[in-house]
Amino acid sequence: MATAQKEKILFVDDEESILDVASEYFSIKGYQVFTAKNGVEALSVLDREMIDCCFTDINMPEMDGLELAENINKRDNTIPVVIMTGYPSLENTIRTLKNGVVDFLIKPINLNQLELCLKRVINQQQLFVENILLKKEIEGKARIESLNLELLQKIEDLQTLNHIMNDFSAVTSSAGVFNRLVEMAVEITHASESVFYIINEAVTQPFAVAAARSGTTGAAVSAIDLLNISARIPNYMIMDVAGDQSPLLISEGNGLHGFIDEIKSVMVAPLSIRRKIFGVLSTINLDGNSRFAEKDLYYLTYMTHHAAYAIENLALYENIYENLFSTIYAFVKAIGAKDSYTEQHSNRVTAVSKILAKRMECSPEELDILNTAGLLHDIGKIGIRDDILLKPGKLTDEEYEIIKTHSIIGANIVGQLGLWEREQQIIRCHHERYDGTGYPDGLKGTAIPLLARILSVADVYDALASDRTYRKKMEEARIMDIIQHGKGSFFDPDIVDIFMSAFATGEIHDAVQCLACSNPGPK
Ligand SMILES: [Fe+2]
Repeated sequence: MATAQKEKILFVDDEESILDVASEYFSIKGYQVFTAKNGVEALSVLDREMIDCCFTDINMPEMDGLELAENINKRDNTIPVVIMTGYPSLENTIRTLKNGVVDFLIKPINLNQLELCLKRVINQQQLFVENILLKKEIEGKARIESLNLELLQKIEDLQTLNHIMNDFSAVTSSAGVFNRLVEMAVEITHASESVFYIINEAVTQPFAVAAARSGTTGAAVSAIDLLNISARIPNYMIMDVAGDQSPLLISEGNGLHGFIDEIKSVMVAPLSIRRKIFGVLSTINLDGNSRFAEKDLYYLTYMTHHAAYAIENLALYENIYENLFSTIYAFVKAIGAKDSYTEQHSNRVTAVSKILAKRMECSPEELDILNTAGLLHDIGKIGIRDDILLKPGKLTDEEYEIIKTHSIIGANIVGQLGLWEREQQIIRCHHERYDGTGYPDGLKGTAIPLLARILSVADVYDALASDRTYRKKMEEARIMDIIQHGKGSFFDPDIVDIFMSAFATGEIHDAVQCLACSNPGPK
């Protein structure tokens, strides 16, 4: 069996006798021995051979031992160098130690002593090399661990993004998208609260249509909560984000103008459909140590992008009618939150209009149009300032002019997506008068769409038959007088006749009463 190759040793000395003795002794012991008479020769040996240990004299011609040690150290600091000298000095000792010399032998040197030194030095060198390898291995492991962590984080990110995408694809209505959006924002960014506002160019302020709080996933917040939660973020911030269509992150919200003290961190992301702003999603962190980071904003923006696709897809390919309706009806619910009269009034006007339309033998399609237009006819009031809309007393002329803009605002909102042209027309014309003295266009007679003429009678009837903050509801006989009196001036005479006969049967009264007790909603 072949014995393992022993170490290669280099002896450097200008005294040949020393080289001969060492060479013979260590060769017999099985080492491979190389010799050199000075530093220059030694370096040329090192060029050819992988030397495991070098013993060198100090004083030699051409290149002395100290310079040699320095050269070896520069080439490969794992080769141990042992100095052999007959004249040790403190200065030499210090120099040699600086150059990686591992031991110092004083001549005359005993061969046994030399061998012991060799074994010790080689052993140390092996430990040194092993130590270096071990260090590299540890560094490698740490790197792998950090790569693994990075990978896990990326997988988690992808899962989150996937979760966002799948969640929206499962929603079947626009209102569902808004609700899912706010719930997801709270869940994924660990926010305290989230609100989705619809932005419409016809309205000067954002309109909150959905909100969620942490810990209440799946439970819809009440209309009052919706108002309270949405009021925490100043309107200017929502409108700024909507205007720039770029997201906003404020990690530390304390002390910022317009914020309540409890708000620690804020994110706002726009939701645009075909580059046109449609809404804004906001999240806030109250109290605690949690703060939003860039990554949370990335998630929030990803959510609004996918919500936009979902809304667009729903509107384009599935239930166009119902989804647009649910989008717009969110406005009606929002009006109801601040002005419950408008919402209930809209329901009653729709019911009465449909009774009249049926009696006039309108088609099922016309009844559908009337249903939508009736529920949304005053939707433009969301664009009217609260101090005017909710004013308890009589309006000034100027305030009345502002209120009158609601029919145009409403028509613009409904027409925003380029659909529902007939509904849009009816909403625009519901305050036109038969004799041409109405608004906004002063249309006359049959130039006013039939369904708008029907809606106008039902609208006035319900307004007079309702309690308002500034007056009590009127007696029925008085209402009938007013409507009769408006025949041909305010109203289409034929429709007034039909209203009178329907009223006489009690059908109108019953429909309104029925709504008052069951409050059935939009359909
Ligand atoms: Fe109106």
